[in-house]
Amino acid sequence: MKAHMTLAGSLMAALILTAGCGGGGDGGTDGSSDPSNASVAAGKVTFSKICSACHGMDGKGMPSLGKDITTSTFVASDTDEQLLAFIKEGRAADHPDNTTGVPMPPKAGDPTLTDAKILEVIAYMRSIQVKP
Ligand code: HEC
Repeated sequence: MKAHMTLAGSLMAALILTAGCGGGGDGGTDGSSDPSNASVAAGKVTFSKICSACHGMDGKGMPSLGKDITTSTFVASDTDEQLLAFIKEGRAADHPDNTTGVPMPPKAGDPTLTDAKILEVIAYMRSIQVKP
């Protein structure tokens, strides 16, 4: 079973990487977030500007808006590639994974968000995760 998961995971990653190559010049991302302080700091700025509107400045979520990111098992268990794909696609209110009935807009409603910027936000989200 584990082998299957891994295969599916790398297939997904390959698909996303292929799709991502079309645009080109997106900051030369290799599809994974960079946990360095600089990326985390840059990601925090983007998070405060865009994501905090629904997820709160501290990422702990807002009633009827966004979910708590710090304790999210979705963030903890997903790869950077999966989170990147999720943020680009959003999650409609009627999406099977939706738990609140509130939609998350694609690219958090900001079409100018690049893959590189999103990966910085992912690095930031990982830095504020509370370990269970
Ligand atoms: C307009 C409001 C809004 C904005 C802006 C927004 N989100 Fe969301 N987000 C949501 C909602 C609502 C959900 C929960 C959807 C559900 O019920 O499954 C969500 C879910 C998530 C999840 C999944 C959490 C989980 O445990 O399932 C992640 C990760 C996430 N958002 C990250 C981000 C990031 C990063 C940004 C900024 C780039 C962002 N969001 C901006 C509304 C928003």
